[in-house]
Amino acid sequence: MSQRQILVTSALPYANGHIHIGHLVEYIQTDIFVRFQKLRGHNCRYFCADDTHGTAIMIRAKAEGRSEEHLIAEMSGAHQRDFAAFGIEFDHYGSTNSASNRAVCDSIWASLRKQNLIVERSVERLFDPEAGTFLADRFVKGTCPKCQSPEQYGDSCEKCNATYAPTDLIDARSTLSGATPEPRMSQQLFVQIEQLHEFLTSWTQAGGHLQDEVANYLKGHFLGEPLRDWDVSRPAPYFGFEIPDAPGNYWYVWFDAPIGYIASCHDWCQASGEDSATWWPRGPEAEQAPCEIRHFIGKDIIYFHTLFWPAMLKASGFKLPDQVHIHGFLTVDGEKMSKSRGTFVQAATYAKHLDPSYLRYFYASKLGGRVDDIDLNLDEFKAKVDSDLVGKVVNLASRTAKMAKASGLAASYPDDGGLFAAAAAQAETIAAAYEATNYAEAMRRIMALADRANEYVETAAPWSLKKDPARADELQAVCTVALNLFRQLVVFLTPVLPRLADQAGALLGNPITTWNQAQQPLIGTEVAAFKHLMQRVDEKKVQAMIDESKDAAAETAEAVDANSASTSPELDAEPLAAECSFDDFSKVDLRVAEIVSAEHVEGADKLLCLKLSLGGSVTKQVFAGIKSAYAPEDLVGRHVVCVANLAPRKMKFGMSEGMVIAAGPGKKDIFLLSPDAGAKPGQRVH
Ligand code: MSP
Ligand code: ZN
Repeated sequence: MSQRQILVTSALPYANGHIHIGHLVEYIQTDIFVRFQKLRGHNCRYFCADDTHGTAIMIRAKAEGRSEEHLIAEMSGAHQRDFAAFGIEFDHYGSTNSASNRAVCDSIWASLRKQNLIVERSVERLFDPEAGTFLADRFVKGTCPKCQSPEQYGDSCEKCNATYAPTDLIDARSTLSGATPEPRMSQQLFVQIEQLHEFLTSWTQAGGHLQDEVANYLKGHFLGEPLRDWDVSRPAPYFGFEIPDAPGNYWYVWFDAPIGYIASCHDWCQASGEDSATWWPRGPEAEQAPCEIRHFIGKDIIYFHTLFWPAMLKASGFKLPDQVHIHGFLTVDGEKMSKSRGTFVQAATYAKHLDPSYLRYFYASKLGGRVDDIDLNLDEFKAKVDSDLVGKVVNLASRTAKMAKASGLAASYPDDGGLFAAAAAQAETIAAAYEATNYAEAMRRIMALADRANEYVETAAPWSLKKDPARADELQAVCTVALNLFRQLVVFLTPVLPRLADQAGALLGNPITTWNQAQQPLIGTEVAAFKHLMQRVDEKKVQAMIDESKDAAAETAEAVDANSASTSPELDAEPLAAECSFDDFSKVDLRVAEIVSAEHVEGADKLLCLKLSLGGSVTKQVFAGIKSAYAPEDLVGRHVVCVANLAPRKMKFGMSEGMVIAAGPGKKDIFLLSPDAGAKPGQRVH
């Protein structure tokens, strides 16, 4: 088998949020593919980067009172820590805000100009007169022009799926300031990808670059009519790269984001002395070069990766991807991930409570290589991990390793009734399933082999042999077979469970480094002291993870509550809430309250627990997200305004029976509202 050179990428995660278990579907899927190729001896490299540009980052940095560079550096660190915790191993992890990325952007842009693909037009965009900025589509809300649903974003309607321009919205308003945006003319640059229509039709429809369902979707939705010009520039202020031949204009984030794939590859080549022209070739021979490029992405970003991206690569002469592989979205217990249900679980929260190997295996068992959504049903998660990993795989070792410690493995491989050879003969079928990203099938086949190995151990009953010293040789033979079948399964599982592979290598004094190790049994080696390989899923920890995710959502909600009272939207850029009727507002019972005690809450980063007196014997316990701004001892005795009739809410730390009112952008700047000294606890606030 000749060695292939394979460049693999996952989509570049946005720098404005943390990695969550939905993202992990993709990064785990990709990491398994890369580890599989490396185990097979191919020259495979995995590149990724943070996607750092755009309005959202700019607004957030401003709200947090720091530079964009500071914010994205912090997020990049957090992303890389999360990935490492899940065993996701990149050969290089870069940033789209890098010199190398700017250089590739410049060069691709020059090619697009040279091919006459760029046109300039004056377009009407919405400008926020209070915030002093043009508004990205998602910062405009209003009523859908098609179905009249209120509160829809500026690009598409969540109710009827209509897509439109933000200027089409009825009663549009800026979510930055609440102001009514003004249409203003702005000079913008467009890529005329229609000029590449014919190429895109043939590239997407033939050659096996896309799953059939994706190719059909593109044909049905986009390729049947002229392709719309792609609006690729944004006027200042914008956090991104300024376009060299159009000062005051910046490349739209989706222009420089995929180019970040190439830049990340270039960074790695630079650092490791490789020739980037062989990894991502450019020029007339590029398509014939002996290397592969494979992207893994989610179904929400198909258009960018299957139309814009190939168009840009084609126009600039870079090698096109051999495959863009698309996966579906994660649901939890059959529903969209939800903050209030606690199923919007961040990677770090998961890793705090549960073994990342469980999730790697569970996702592998669900990923069949199609675009369907995949569901994380928490009962099934436990059942599968317990029965497959602990019950079938790890069990083989935990039942025999201790008994084999004294003797080591037998000097020649005993008769096992053909089990090892039969499993070895399946190696190529299992490999083909991995290659086709049909991990679900690979897992099914591996577990079927594990079933047979367990039957063998049941029948051979080494635990009874152990009782009879005269049968020590037989015992050694049975353990040798069981441990070899175990090791063979672990070789097949190595792309999914690299940590288990390391542990198995240490146990048998023979590190797992290649797929072919499943072909030859190990003989005559020592067996190390057995250490626990994997535990059953503890339901209490699953629940603790869900509870913590709920509390994290509640804490953020508290912080936002504190912000939304701010009167200075330009400063903190907090969107105005939907209009509330007078009747709705009159339901809110605001009272003067005295803080009688204030305490830290163990395990909560933002919360203080307050006891409020509302006059007489009426007291309330409230968890308030004000810890960053107030020391508990400074609060006792202070009068505040409290929402007294808020429905109590159960949090991990206890009941919260109300809310105190505060303003400010957050962190040190949260200010409790205080009534004048004359107001007494219990009095209504009018
Ligand atoms: N920054 C863009 C990608 C630029 S690539 C040049 C982006 N970032 S993202 O952080 O929103 O998503 C990163 C990847 O994670 C995407 O491929 C996306 O489809 C995937 N997922 C994000 N949420 C997901 C789920 N809930 N489920 C499965 N995949 C998900 O898009
Ligand atoms: Zn609509």
